[in-house]
Amino acid sequence: MNELRDTKDWQQYWRGNLADYRSANLANWNERAPAHAQSRDYGTPQLIADSQLLSDVIRFDLPRLGDIQGLRVVHLQCHIGTDTISLARLGAEVTGLDFSDQAIEQARTLAEQAGVRATFIQADLYQALDVLPAESFDLVFTGIGALCWLPHIAPWARIVSGLLVPGGRLFLREGHPMLWSLDESRTDENLVVHYPYFETPEPITEVDSGTYVHTDATFTANTSHSWNHGLGEIISALLEVGMTITMLEEHRSVPWNALPGKMEVDEHGEYMLRANPARLPLTYTLQARRQGRA
Ligand SMILES: C[S@@+](CC[C@H](N)C(=O)[O-])C[C@H]1O[C@@H](n2cnc3c(N)ncnc32)[C@H](O)[C@@H]1O
Repeated sequence: MNELRDTKDWQQYWRGNLADYRSANLANWNERAPAHAQSRDYGTPQLIADSQLLSDVIRFDLPRLGDIQGLRVVHLQCHIGTDTISLARLGAEVTGLDFSDQAIEQARTLAEQAGVRATFIQADLYQALDVLPAESFDLVFTGIGALCWLPHIAPWARIVSGLLVPGGRLFLREGHPMLWSLDESRTDENLVVHYPYFETPEPITEVDSGTYVHTDATFTANTSHSWNHGLGEIISALLEVGMTITMLEEHRSVPWNALPGKMEVDEHGEYMLRANPARLPLTYTLQARRQGRA
């Protein structure tokens, strides 16, 4: 049971050691966001040049996302805004939120250069209900490397539900907790479970002088702290705040090269296991609805 679940003060979620973990993560993301905006892997020049173009992530999501024309959408942990901009191009009125001021600056610049109207707010995820109006979004969109930066999943679910209008929808496509539990440094084809599958009080601490996209940039803030959340924990957290699960689909692909040396690119430009891809889901799409009528 999470003792912080009932507080509305976001700083409560980041006290003690967690505050140090958050600072390290913020420094890490602030250094990487400008490099990501320059990297060919985020394709920002293409998004600017082609006013119809959608990010690879949104193109993958589109069949499950459906028509979002006219919906009020909040994109949590929006990073440099490539997916946020794509959601706006599908006709939604979009607000992106991220705790990294550098990511938000890149997102605002990119949206301006791409000629897209979107609002970007710099705030911690746990602060979302303090900086955004409650019960005012038709759709909460998040994922692709978002939940692993949050120490507690239960308050995340409360925030998601609190942002949605009655009847509103959560769309989450995320790295699968089994993927996050694997030792990615193994060079053979075996999959070795090494990190926790469940949410743990202590984070998984890593030091990595690189990042997940191609870049020539060099970084100095290289420590990061992350947490896994089991699928059951995520679903239970949503059920506990009264949401109804409407979709849970596990996928054999992931948008980034999550297990270097073991993956090949599929027809969607996503990464799949080269050997026996049916062994393991790499991402999942979870959709849920807040109860009530919009
Ligand atoms: C891997 S990125 C998300 C990627 C995004 N789906 C994309 O590819 O554009 C993770 C994002 O989470 C943000 N983040 C990490 N911890 C956060 C927190 N506590 N509150 C808000 N944003 C956070 C980081 O700044 C970063 O932009």
